[in-house]
Amino acid sequence: MTTSTPPRRLFIKTHGCQMNVYDSERIADVLAPLGYRLTDDVESADMIVLNTCHIREKATEKVYSELGRLKAIKARRAEEGDKMIIAVAGCVAQAEGEEIMIRQPAVDLVVGPQSYHRLPELIAKGHRARGDSLAADFEPQAKFDALPVSHDGTGVTAFLTVQEGCDKFCTFCVVPYTRGAEYSRPSTAIEAEARALAARGVREVTLLGQNVNAYVDQDGGGLAVLIRRLAKIPGLDRIRYTTSHPRDMNAELISAHGEVEALMPFLHLPVQSGSDRLLKAMNRGHTTESYLRIIEEVRAARRDIAISGDFIVGFPGERDSDFEATLDLVREVRHAGAFSFKYSRRPGTPAAAMGGQIDEAVKDERLQRLQALLSEQQSAFNASQIGRTVPVLLERHGRHPGQLIGRSPYLQGVHCSAPEAMIGAIVPVAISAASLNSLTGELALETA
Ligand code: 5AD
Ligand code: SF4
Repeated sequence: MTTSTPPRRLFIKTHGCQMNVYDSERIADVLAPLGYRLTDDVESADMIVLNTCHIREKATEKVYSELGRLKAIKARRAEEGDKMIIAVAGCVAQAEGEEIMIRQPAVDLVVGPQSYHRLPELIAKGHRARGDSLAADFEPQAKFDALPVSHDGTGVTAFLTVQEGCDKFCTFCVVPYTRGAEYSRPSTAIEAEARALAARGVREVTLLGQNVNAYVDQDGGGLAVLIRRLAKIPGLDRIRYTTSHPRDMNAELISAHGEVEALMPFLHLPVQSGSDRLLKAMNRGHTTESYLRIIEEVRAARRDIAISGDFIVGFPGERDSDFEATLDLVREVRHAGAFSFKYSRRPGTPAAAMGGQIDEAVKDERLQRLQALLSEQQSAFNASQIGRTVPVLLERHGRHPGQLIGRSPYLQGVHCSAPEAMIGAIVPVAISAASLNSLTGELALETA
């Protein structure tokens, strides 16, 4: 989201060698998308970065005395109601680490030369901790950042936002900066909205959140508790949720898949890559092994669950072997569907400043290979439904006269001939044909 808040003023004081001069420029670049513009005036700065040097004797003591002066400026600004961030970077930061904040509590951030790329995350977290929002100036790119828009209220399915924001800080992603911290709506409000939806004929609700399984209500209940509550609402026959993070896929939610009938057997659980080295560079907070374990547990709870995911190819530093590991993971999981993207460099995110950016041509080639494999699996999953009879929620008219389109429990589109009056009904459909994107079948209603 692009916001039009006034720029924040950044004052950088550089000590030492040419390397530090270069690093100060990088720091300014990394902070620009967060709204920071350079100023020469230390007194009016919103953030001061002291880029320190270790080489001379007593360098550390000099840093502390300089910090003492900055503390006085910060205190004056605070009296005027202004907030100022003091960050220490460079070699002294590296050598002293958090010790600096203990000796001089006016310091908000200490960041060594190896971690400049993490500055956006550190700063966003600093803003959050003080309860103010971050003026992020990112180019909007809806496919990565936006939640689906809530429904207009005429359909038999609806989206219901239960959670927003993200605390995960994947290094490629703008959401933690643009959408802010994780926030969950009170479950009472959600339940009231779900009841109102059901009363107007909605039979399937998809609970939405950037990190929907990080949901926690006012009493500490997680998403599983919310789902169990909503499943009791008369008329609300189907519940889905998206998007989840592997880190928040807890045991309660997994067991709900085996126990709550209304909870549909479909899980969108992005993994992004099959290479542990890249997952680490992405700051995903999970490994391929922990992801596979979750899939195994979910399948143990609900044997027929369809697994979907998000993938990124061409993340900085991705080697052929990393990409092959992603293909291996996809083969092992047998995803029923997925979204896959070429890595897109978003200035202001840590990954944008990483070395090893990948050529577009390589990204293209990898994306094609990954999508070919995912399509193959999606087609195979769809074909596996042929000959089965599945409950389909009929949603709307199809392209051909007399045809309706609905969804299977696995989120597949299903075409069948049925009278219009059946829109909103969940009916058994015998599946006779399948393609990459949909199924076709015949109503299998018992005739009396
Ligand atoms: N480049 C490519 N894909 C991205 N996503 C988010 N940010 C980026 C980016 N910079 C993808 C991730 C995420 C999905 C919503 O969008 O796969 O799960
Ligand atoms: Fe972005 Fe990662 Fe948060 Fe998803 S979990 S919104 S990819 S930072």
